[in-house]
Amino acid sequence: MRQIIAGNWKMFGRLAEIPAYAEAIRSAPAHVDLLICPPFTLLDRFATALKGSPIALGGQNCHAAAQGAHTGDIAAPMLAETGATYVILGHSERRENHGETNAEIYAKAETAMAAGLIPIICVGETEMQRDAGEAEHVVRSQLSHSLPPRFAGIVAYEPVWAIGTGRTPTESEVAAMHATIRAALVAQLGAGGSAINILYGGSVKPGNAAALLALPEVGGALVGGASLKAADLLAIAVAAPGG
Ligand code: PGA
Repeated sequence: MRQIIAGNWKMFGRLAEIPAYAEAIRSAPAHVDLLICPPFTLLDRFATALKGSPIALGGQNCHAAAQGAHTGDIAAPMLAETGATYVILGHSERRENHGETNAEIYAKAETAMAAGLIPIICVGETEMQRDAGEAEHVVRSQLSHSLPPRFAGIVAYEPVWAIGTGRTPTESEVAAMHATIRAALVAQLGAGGSAINILYGGSVKPGNAAALLALPEVGGALVGGASLKAADLLAIAVAAPGG
């Protein structure tokens, strides 16, 4: 399985940064699939800057409806029109800041797939849940309630307490959770569940990428802070196995 390295720019980045960034990431190694998820306003310009390269683009959210009176929201077909082929759904910052539920994420995933987008569904426990020994139960429940039965996409395991903190779970904790996710995907989706890339996210940096990406059932990374620097994202891509 080819690894996927996805950069999540969150609410960072300006138009003026795109040309140099796009030029730099064009030198990404060919053994990984690279994907950038910038704010909506940068997608179109990014698509132009990356024309002719294999680097893909994604949104960071979409609405559950394909269109409608939803001021301030973005529809999946609109993302697809910009050239995006992926969309991040259910990121913990959206679950927390916007109260997104598993049921909404399920509906968004269906709409995204109908628009031809590949959903990247995020799951992950809070620190309190991990300390209480509930991490695996929480993640299994997120998977069973937010993935539609015909799910064809990507899953990102992002422990909430590791996002933007510089802290990561131990290698054995990551491996154990990824094994749990794989088993849940196969139980839920049948054979299709074994073909899904399971990304790890949460403080992935050039310094820890090789160790994290080499773990069993880790199929790539969802990278926040470090993706804002082209050199760091490239270093993470280079560290992925298979090169
Ligand atoms: P981080 O963010 O790499 O800055 O921890 C990851 C994410 O939220 O996707």
